[in-house]
Amino acid sequence: MSPQPDVIRGTSIAGTGRYVPERVMTNHDLAQIVETSDEWIVERTGIRQRHIAAPDQASSDLALIACQRALAMAGLEPGQVDHIVLATTTPDRILPSCACTLQQKLGATRAAAYDMFAACTGFVYGLGLARGLIGAGVADTVLVVGVETLSRIVDYTDRNTCVLFGDGAGAAVLRPAAPGEGLHAIDMHSDGELGEVLEVPSGISRNPATTATVAGREHFIRMQGKKLFPFAVRSMVESLSLCLERSGWAANDLDLFIPHQANLRIIDGVRERLALDPAKCVVNIDRYGNTSSASIPIALDEAVRAGRLQPGHKLGLAAFGGGATWGAATMTWTLPAPAAMREAEPAAAREVTT
Ligand code: UT7
Repeated sequence: MSPQPDVIRGTSIAGTGRYVPERVMTNHDLAQIVETSDEWIVERTGIRQRHIAAPDQASSDLALIACQRALAMAGLEPGQVDHIVLATTTPDRILPSCACTLQQKLGATRAAAYDMFAACTGFVYGLGLARGLIGAGVADTVLVVGVETLSRIVDYTDRNTCVLFGDGAGAAVLRPAAPGEGLHAIDMHSDGELGEVLEVPSGISRNPATTATVAGREHFIRMQGKKLFPFAVRSMVESLSLCLERSGWAANDLDLFIPHQANLRIIDGVRERLALDPAKCVVNIDRYGNTSSASIPIALDEAVRAGRLQPGHKLGLAAFGGGATWGAATMTWTLPAPAAMREAEPAAAREVTT
């Protein structure tokens, strides 16, 4: 297949930021709550700890700091943002949208703001949307943020799920670029047939909240992890392969690959099928668990600030999640060396790096 035709303008990432809450919950902490062990969790998932939001922190609070950091790196003011695309499964409330709450806190006075529900694929979907908006000239500056407070919808009596998820936020500022620079290919899919494999059964229009739904713990995540596993590997490999083909790249042309962090065995499965050098694959699931829509932008920001991405590097992203949704992206990195970026971090931001 020939490369995807360029839209009118190119789109590239001009800044990234992340924030994770201070509180760390280790596997040993979880073993005090449910029948599990550090050995089982590490062996089956690669997770050692996850960060948990404080009682007074909602998703918009986490997103705010990640966005401030991303804008500082881009050298932009909140008032310059045209669109806020907020990918989440855990908005502060259903109404108003989490994006509008963030817009107000950030002072992004002229931004359109809306939530996007694409589960763990949300950040990749957000990049696709931003590319369309910028490419078509509808917007110049788009803030894409993936944020989750999954601890609020995790059932801490269910060992099948409670060991997996964590809280956090990651953001990217998207700006116009020369045609062919920045984002190359974006691939996005969904299959509602798989909807029940990962769901929160009650709370909104299908089964509004009642005392019975609350008593039945129906407002928490339920997952058939075994069914998701092979789908996850297959979908990420297929989607990234399509993007590589559209970019005219082989897998090992990539300088860096950032997969959604759901399970280390899933990441290894994808990497092995692509025959990709392990040193090129970003893994941070040991420290954060699965932060859903935030996992790729958190890993991206870590990679950027650690100097793992330099101008001209080829980057691949791939994600899958509830819905089901899946997708991938390829891009050429355009941002300069990270030394100047570290200085751009707002001093007020609270973060523990572990
Ligand atoms: O971001 C997208 C959403 N999530 C995913 O993509 C998750 C995809 N799936 C997975 O990552 C894996 O399927 C899991 C990590 C969820 C589970 O790993 P698994 O190797 O598929 O284990 P399993 O579900 O087959 O369970 C094996 C055993 C079971 O015991 P029995 O029936 O063999 O006696 C489980 O009850 O492990 C048991 N088990 C646990 N034991 C200790 C399940 N969870 C735990 C636990 N601690 N936390």
